[in-house]
Amino acid sequence: MTQPTATAASRYADSLRLSVAPMMDWTDRHCRVFHRLLAPGARLYTEMVHANAVIHGDRQRLLGFDPGETPLALQLGGSDPALLAQAARIAQDWGYDEVNLNCGCPSDRVQAGRFGACLMREPALVADCVAAMVAAVDIPVTVKCRLGVDDDNEYDAFAAFVDQQVAAGAPMVVVHARNAWLKGLSPKENREVPPLRYDWAYRLKQERPGLPVVLNGGLASIEAVQAQQGKVDGVMLGRAAYHDPYLLHQLEALQTGAPLQTRQALLRALRPYVEARLAEGSALKHITRHILGLFHGQPGGRAFRQILSEGAHRPGADWSLVEQALAVTERDGGREAA
Ligand SMILES: Cc1cc2nc3c(=O)[nH]c(=O)nc-3n(C[C@H](O)[C@H](O)[C@H](O)COP(=O)(O)O)c2cc1C
Repeated sequence: MTQPTATAASRYADSLRLSVAPMMDWTDRHCRVFHRLLAPGARLYTEMVHANAVIHGDRQRLLGFDPGETPLALQLGGSDPALLAQAARIAQDWGYDEVNLNCGCPSDRVQAGRFGACLMREPALVADCVAAMVAAVDIPVTVKCRLGVDDDNEYDAFAAFVDQQVAAGAPMVVVHARNAWLKGLSPKENREVPPLRYDWAYRLKQERPGLPVVLNGGLASIEAVQAQQGKVDGVMLGRAAYHDPYLLHQLEALQTGAPLQTRQALLRALRPYVEARLAEGSALKHITRHILGLFHGQPGGRAFRQILSEGAHRPGADWSLVEQALAVTERDGGREAA
């Protein structure tokens, strides 16, 4: 990778302050366009795509994105350095700003394929993968990892894993700050049951002040995010960003000083995108499923959700349904001052 200049490096570090986690079946391009409107400066991540799929699959479907989505990272799955290097090159050619290697997914399918979280036990192989990708592209090659797997409880082993990836050329690390249990827990339980240990991420940062560290796991409020200030370089939100997307907007506004917009105004800004997709033949439900949480905890929020969930799958459903749902939030006093 070409050496970044000091300014490019500090711009990169700044772009790490807020990101939305890669989430299979959730962070598709419709979702990302919506999140981008809410948080113009956040880093967005795709769903994980296996290197083989990038190389042999339908690239338009798997890799296509809206130009407005950037800065955008493609998350790759895999553990074959040559395949990952090829996939990373394709990602760069498609205009991605970063490729990120998944070292955190605990699903049985992923374990069987020898990638995801089980790679935490193969730091040298991961480093080979990172080095191969770094040699193939100019964009940053990063890693999203756990603290360990199963009953691993050695901070030094975790730190050594990170150090090897940094030595191989990764300019930053995203730490989902809990272990992955490879036996006996579903992927969902693996996001809830193993205890969070932010202190490992803090210590990693303290001991390596030059290494940008992004903290992920269980961050679900403004207060929780603010509590990370000065301890890590940035935060990555997953479920909270999806279920309560206005939180992204509030965080972005706090971090940048940009004025808050109302939920209604933000959603109406999505209209041109929605209408363009509908004109291409997409169904409304594929887009609106990502916006159901926009009025989370707000007056009219439940009715908003219900109108969209019930109406969006009907043939011919169009933007007027979204306006109907918005009208309820406005009628019920949802025209809240931002
Ligand atoms: C539906 C869903 C799908 C996920 N898919 C991925 C994935 O493809 N790659 C990945 O690294 N993590 C994936 N994750 C894990 C998240 O990126 C994140 O690490 C985890 O949810 C913890 O963050 P949170 O507590 O903010 O949700 C997924 C999480 C969810 C809820």
